[in-house]
Amino acid sequence: MFIKSYSLLILNLNFNGEIINMSKIFISCALPYANGPCHLGHLRSTYLPADIYARYNRMIGNDVLMVCASDEHGTPIAVKADNENIKPIEVSKRYHDMIADDIKSMNISLDNFTRTTDERHYDIAQNFFLDLYNKGYIYKKDITQLFCENCNKFLPDRYVEGICPVCGSEARGDHCEKCGRVLDPTELEDPKCLTCGSTPVIKDSYQYFFKLSEFQDVVENYIDNNINLPPNVRNYAKNWLKEGLNDWVLTRDMDWGIPVPLDEALGKVIYVWGEAFLGYISSASQWSDETGIKWEDYWNDYVVHFIGKDIIYHHSIFWPALLSAYGCKMPDNIYAGEFLSLEGQKMSTSKNWVVWISDFVDQFDPDLLRFYLTINAPLNKDTDFSWKDFQRRNNDGLADVIGNFLHRTFTFTHKFFDGKIPEYKDPSDEDMEFEKLIRELPDKVGEFITDYEFRDGLLEIFRVCKLGNKYFNDQEPWKAVKENPQKAANTLYLSNQLAKTLAIVLKPYIPTKADAIAEIINIDIPEKWDEAIVPLPAGHEINKAKPLFKKIDDDVIDAQIAKLNETLKITEEKEDENMSDIITIDDFDKVEIKIGQIKEAEKIEKSDKLLKLQVDIGDEVRQIVAGLAKFYDPEELIDRKVAVVVNLKPAKLFGTLSEGMILATGESGALLTPDECEIGERIQ
Ligand code: 2FM
Ligand code: ZN
Repeated sequence: MFIKSYSLLILNLNFNGEIINMSKIFISCALPYANGPCHLGHLRSTYLPADIYARYNRMIGNDVLMVCASDEHGTPIAVKADNENIKPIEVSKRYHDMIADDIKSMNISLDNFTRTTDERHYDIAQNFFLDLYNKGYIYKKDITQLFCENCNKFLPDRYVEGICPVCGSEARGDHCEKCGRVLDPTELEDPKCLTCGSTPVIKDSYQYFFKLSEFQDVVENYIDNNINLPPNVRNYAKNWLKEGLNDWVLTRDMDWGIPVPLDEALGKVIYVWGEAFLGYISSASQWSDETGIKWEDYWNDYVVHFIGKDIIYHHSIFWPALLSAYGCKMPDNIYAGEFLSLEGQKMSTSKNWVVWISDFVDQFDPDLLRFYLTINAPLNKDTDFSWKDFQRRNNDGLADVIGNFLHRTFTFTHKFFDGKIPEYKDPSDEDMEFEKLIRELPDKVGEFITDYEFRDGLLEIFRVCKLGNKYFNDQEPWKAVKENPQKAANTLYLSNQLAKTLAIVLKPYIPTKADAIAEIINIDIPEKWDEAIVPLPAGHEINKAKPLFKKIDDDVIDAQIAKLNETLKITEEKEDENMSDIITIDDFDKVEIKIGQIKEAEKIEKSDKLLKLQVDIGDEVRQIVAGLAKFYDPEELIDRKVAVVVNLKPAKLFGTLSEGMILATGESGALLTPDECEIGERIQ
């Protein structure tokens, strides 16, 4: 029994079931932006799976280096600092510290956590940039950019809001959250400066570009031939590759960021996505200095990046291309966790529709969250966090199945065997069947974790615990102890062996609870996976039982739900206060809309959207700049009757005076054509 019937090979299988040899593993977690603390979504998509994978691999003897850092640059942090009237570093320091606490409180076993304002990171990022520049992979190019004349500054990335030209959703500067597209802010429709709300103009500037287009084949090859990549990453990447890669603007006109290391580029910084990846390296390099161990050996052996699915594009396309340009090995795997919603709604930090990690750990044991987020759904599926479901999984799963099995095992061992592991003799068929289940469990769980199927590993543990409860019930040791003491001894012997196995196989998932199990069993905290198959000897004395997994009462959960609903109520009230879309008849009266007729129409140079129109409104001819160029050739508009807002404050668009507005639908540019009306008539 408990013979080492298998050897724990330091092996992993890829998605095609092929064996990958590895002994050193470089694991990274996507760098969280230092513009807010961590919430459940971060944990579920990235840190928790990375931690389960890292802990397991360490336990089977692989040498793991797991790193992360806070991502301190980028416009959201600069915008937040502007709003608070403080320096960006003060914002990022505040959140860096909070994030570090959040990660620690969830027992994410990082080997190093640094920050991208660290001097070493600046050096690494600037040298990387220079290397690519010197190799000709980065070049300078004149471009046009959005510029806010009111704030007197360029509006990179998230300094501007508008409508995504691809899917029509609201988008911020460089990225549409809805369709996941990376955008050039000048492509945005109806752009507005985030600081002051005015409409920016387009102005000449220059930036440095990375020749991403030259890496089309390299990246295609990487995606096609890297058999480790999971389907979601591969499919996303292939879809984007189909569209063809364009060169990528790698610098920005702003103060907050890592300065471009070229004399000619004063006032320009490296785009946050051009340096954040290097946080993996700078964190590892800091660790190397502290430990004297070379991080490169880990990178060169096996690298896996754990990320959220919103940044697959960056990791599967930009990053491999950058690495290839530098002459460095590309990642062996990229593991992307899908989204988590909250109570059926998309999480939103701005609406406070989130559960912050720090709030959670104030109330609950972090392992309960680790358990729930893992068992709730496989990582490659979107899923939902709901407080009721959390309660149900805890009460019916952790407490009723695992907790109950452990508790009855320990209390019976004390009650009938003086707290000592009894002798195992003349096993029955049921005993042998149960013994087999226990013996096979570590291997099965290990295989699932190796294949990144973390939920399935936990379900397997769960299944065996359920069978453990059934075995215990069927054997009725409370009766057998009088009628057939050896039968009761075998039951308690095997039940304690399963408890010990649980202390090991649960460790990657719920490390503090696993250690608490080990403490009751009275063994050293297990560090190695193969300790799971070394049986507790008969006569070994265990410690006093104490309940490890408690049920969560309804009122505790109801209080959490009430708290969330309160947040929602406050947000809705605020939205109501801000609601300016209900107007009175007096408000409407202020808008003077007249029937006009277009007399002349011409294109505006450098704009593909705007037309300059001369419109007869009865008592005068007005010059109006209208966003109709995409929908009409100028000549099509001549003599069309249109509805015109005539008392709008005049404005200059592309340097051209506009004294009114033509009414048309936003999506298709369809004009309101009041043909039966007289020119100059007022609509009221
Ligand atoms: O999307 C994000 O949250 C980024 N801060 C992730 C950066 S990951 C990597 F590049 F370092
Ligand atoms: Zn502005």
